[in-house]
Amino acid sequence: MGPWPAEPELFLYDESLLADGDRRNVVDKYRYWRHEAIVHDLDAQRHDFHVAVENWGHDFNIGSVIRTANAFNAKAFHIVGKRRWNRRGAMVTDRYQHEYHHPSIEALVDWATAAPAGGEAHGIPIIGIDNLPGSQPIETYDLPRHCILLFGQEGPGLSPQAREASVAILDIAQFGSTRSINAGAAAAIAMHAWVRRHVFDQPL
Ligand SMILES: C[S@@+](CC[C@H](N)C(=O)[O-])C[C@H]1O[C@@H](n2cnc3c(N)ncnc32)[C@H](O)[C@@H]1O
Repeated sequence: MGPWPAEPELFLYDESLLADGDRRNVVDKYRYWRHEAIVHDLDAQRHDFHVAVENWGHDFNIGSVIRTANAFNAKAFHIVGKRRWNRRGAMVTDRYQHEYHHPSIEALVDWATAAPAGGEAHGIPIIGIDNLPGSQPIETYDLPRHCILLFGQEGPGLSPQAREASVAILDIAQFGSTRSINAGAAAAIAMHAWVRRHVFDQPL
């Protein structure tokens, strides 16, 4: 371990981590940083997409979705349905994010309608992600900068209310025999589609 940092950097660092070592799963930039300092830094550069997951049956995939939302620095994540969710798969990544709970899709819609959408604008569209009759290919859809990507659960997929609330439902192309991919995998692909479009400015 190197020498302790001098002021004014010291406020960034956690003395106990400096003394005992930092075993957290964080990128090197944040090693030894105080938790609040990391969140503050992430807040300054969060992307304009939100992630929402329906939680009616404690789907174990939610943690994986939330971990990916952290990796792609989503603006916030939203749990729709039951408040408690299986955090194990999130690997503590939820603690670096902003979490909202909505007891129903109607409550999520109310939140989205009032949410800031850049400048003076309010209202963020909900984009459902599922492979359903009538869904459009995500590969050729121009994802809006401000949006909520809404994912369904193993088994039922997006609820009828979620489908109704979505301005569009986007599917990820599949070529094998399985009906669907894991929700965590689907969420990673959808978030990365947003990143390609809005961070790397990739044309469709
Ligand atoms: C395991 S799927 C179940 C629903 C699926 N519609 C079916 O027919 O079996 C659970 C969730 O994963 C996501 N998902 C899985 N495969 C997908 C795909 N090919 N395209 C878009 N989303 C997908 C969706 O959010 C979906 O609600």
